[in-house]
Amino acid sequence: MNSFDRPAVTGSALLEPAATPVRFPEGFVWGAATAAYQIEGAAHDDGRGPSIWDTFCRTPGKVHAGHTGDVACDHYHRYPDDVALMAELGLHAYRFSVAWPRIQPDGSGPVNPRGLDFYDRLVDELRGRDIDPIITLYHWDLPQTLEDRGGWTNRETAERFADYAAAVYGRLGDRVTTWTTLNEPWCSAYLGYGNGVHAPGRQDPAATFAAVHHLLLAHGLGAAALRAAGATTVGITLNPAAVFPADPESPTDAQAVRLVDGLHNRIFFDPLLRGQYPADVLEHVARFTDLGYLRAGDEKLIGAPIDLLGVNYYAPTYVAARPGAAGGGGAYPGTEGIEFLPPVGPLTDMGWMIEPGGLTALLERISNDYPGVPMIVTENGAAFDDKFHRDAPGTDGRVHDADRVSYLDGHLRAAHEAIARGVDLRGYLVWSLLDNFEWAEGYRKRFGIIYVDYLTQRRVPKDSARWYQEVIHRNGL
Ligand code: NOJ
Repeated sequence: MNSFDRPAVTGSALLEPAATPVRFPEGFVWGAATAAYQIEGAAHDDGRGPSIWDTFCRTPGKVHAGHTGDVACDHYHRYPDDVALMAELGLHAYRFSVAWPRIQPDGSGPVNPRGLDFYDRLVDELRGRDIDPIITLYHWDLPQTLEDRGGWTNRETAERFADYAAAVYGRLGDRVTTWTTLNEPWCSAYLGYGNGVHAPGRQDPAATFAAVHHLLLAHGLGAAALRAAGATTVGITLNPAAVFPADPESPTDAQAVRLVDGLHNRIFFDPLLRGQYPADVLEHVARFTDLGYLRAGDEKLIGAPIDLLGVNYYAPTYVAARPGAAGGGGAYPGTEGIEFLPPVGPLTDMGWMIEPGGLTALLERISNDYPGVPMIVTENGAAFDDKFHRDAPGTDGRVHDADRVSYLDGHLRAAHEAIARGVDLRGYLVWSLLDNFEWAEGYRKRFGIIYVDYLTQRRVPKDSARWYQEVIHRNGL
């Protein structure tokens, strides 16, 4: 229960696309995902307030080359064309996030109707093309005013999130069935308040764990508010780590896995799906904070049943017990003596390992340890250094991203393998529809299956987009 089975095949062996055809179950949902700050732009339109990412981008040295989401893919104005591209690809579903600072510019109080109008138009456009909207309510763009009052370290932020969730449901609930509260709360807490690589850029283990709890509480309160308003399909998206021991025979490596798994996975899964934080994790956390933020009744709220679990997977993590090793820093407080192994190539442009077997192992583990919740891969994909030369002589005007096709092929086979082993996996959403603002990396990392030329905002479907269109059409590979 505390570690994964090692993937049967690892590393580059899985990069060779296997020829065996596979078919997914009937009704399997194929789609793509994005997030508001990464694509919308229009940072000052229609009364949007500032978020922690607007502030962070303007803090020198935090984001590559000082990039911001001010314009991004200008999706706010170009959404009809983008939805037309989705329809051309044959997407069944499109996962996007709503920007809280568009709906409540200060994070609380009166709703800004013009902010809601945008999502209203987007939802209508999607439905008009027979594409099912999947909403993420929080994909990291916390209104700055709430951060000024403590952000996710403040219990009040969770309460305000529930008001916001109810407001969005009130406008879109008649046309949107699938609602997820948070995207990757591990990143919000550990990268935002732990190692400071993401907004708001704080570096404080006590704040990190308070943020974990208040994010989970926001999920619980938000889910309750959605249900009270009539929502029937409510879930959350996590980025669970597929964490493996460097040496599968080593008992101390197994202990390292147990701790990292606790801080990354069980700290979210257990309260969400068993209604209780794991005792060993609480004991570890208590080294950094007095846990005073944990109140009676919170775990019950957090653990209310969900209908769908979103899983984001990109790369595995390998750890070893090594006396003197630095550990994972703010991303894993208190893991001194654990080495996080450097990734082994071939790598993606993010420097991440490519190991599709990690996805199979992860989905199986969740299904075994936390049975009964249908899952959907809400994100999977890869950044590569795609080239597109509009006017260069001799180019064919296309983007040949064979490496991405190979990555996606391997991971879809891995997802299919999980289904074959009994995992209740309902769908797969590729990250991402478009190249976009990759947080601290700015625009230099391209995850899209559609290339974005940021000078002209021209969209160019990459080879992977054509390939994905065919996968959807065949419901398989
Ligand atoms: C997960 C995040 O949800 C998304 O915003 C990000 O762009 C991708 N991972 C790739 O890093």
